[in-house]
Amino acid sequence: MSTLLGLFDSGVGGLTVLRQVLARRPGQRCLYLGDTARVPYGQRSPEEIRTIAAEVIRWLGRQGVDGILMACNTTNALAFDVAESLAGVPVLGLIDSAASQLQADRVGVLATPATAASGAYGHSIRAVHPGAEVVEVGCPAFVPLIETGQLSGTALRQAAQAYLEPLLAARVEVIVLGCTHYPLLQPLLQELVPADVVLVDPAVAAAARLDGVLPPCLDQPAQRLERCCFRVTGPADPFSLAATAWLGERPEVEQVDLGQG
Ligand code: DGL
Repeated sequence: MSTLLGLFDSGVGGLTVLRQVLARRPGQRCLYLGDTARVPYGQRSPEEIRTIAAEVIRWLGRQGVDGILMACNTTNALAFDVAESLAGVPVLGLIDSAASQLQADRVGVLATPATAASGAYGHSIRAVHPGAEVVEVGCPAFVPLIETGQLSGTALRQAAQAYLEPLLAARVEVIVLGCTHYPLLQPLLQELVPADVVLVDPAVAAAARLDGVLPPCLDQPAQRLERCCFRVTGPADPFSLAATAWLGERPEVEQVDLGQG
């Protein structure tokens, strides 16, 4: 039996991370928690985000996970220390995973308002690449639109154009999708930026780092999601429906109370 990896996000966004994990480690057992009762995280205060992260990490710990991948940049930016101190198992983040792989001198970051305000991407990128110019932009409109399944349309396009403006003015070479909901906007964003600007999904680097933390998964399940469990703090059905578009099949989802179990 392979190890159990815990992943969590405020909602469906972290499924972009789960997809990268399963692409790299098809046999990995995964427990995914979507804290849909509290989505979005990105407009909350740092204190609230740290309290939420503590609750989620404690709950994952009680489920017996062997490692945790924070599939949420906002908690990664504001509460990585909280997660590490409470988890009792290895914790991987998206931000330092992405930063360690970036080579560009001018980097743009699209993220939730809380992540952008924390400056976490800038700190991590400059720690590896001291001369880098990093422009971080908070995108409050994105998560509420994505959670309701709106991946195109005028409102989204206009918001994207406005958020990209300062990045394009700074002539960034790379744009980090610094919220796990945003890889779903990749086709739209790619249309709005010059062809030579590279969009980076931090989940790719984070999934690769798992190989150094958890043992290899030697066998593969017959069904792609067979070894994945999905839990949410809000109603199960809307999540299960929204997740179908992301995963290509409808997952079984159960609602949980993080205070119990
Ligand atoms: N998907 C999460 C992130 O990567 C949280 C988005 C939100 O709830 O605002 O930041």
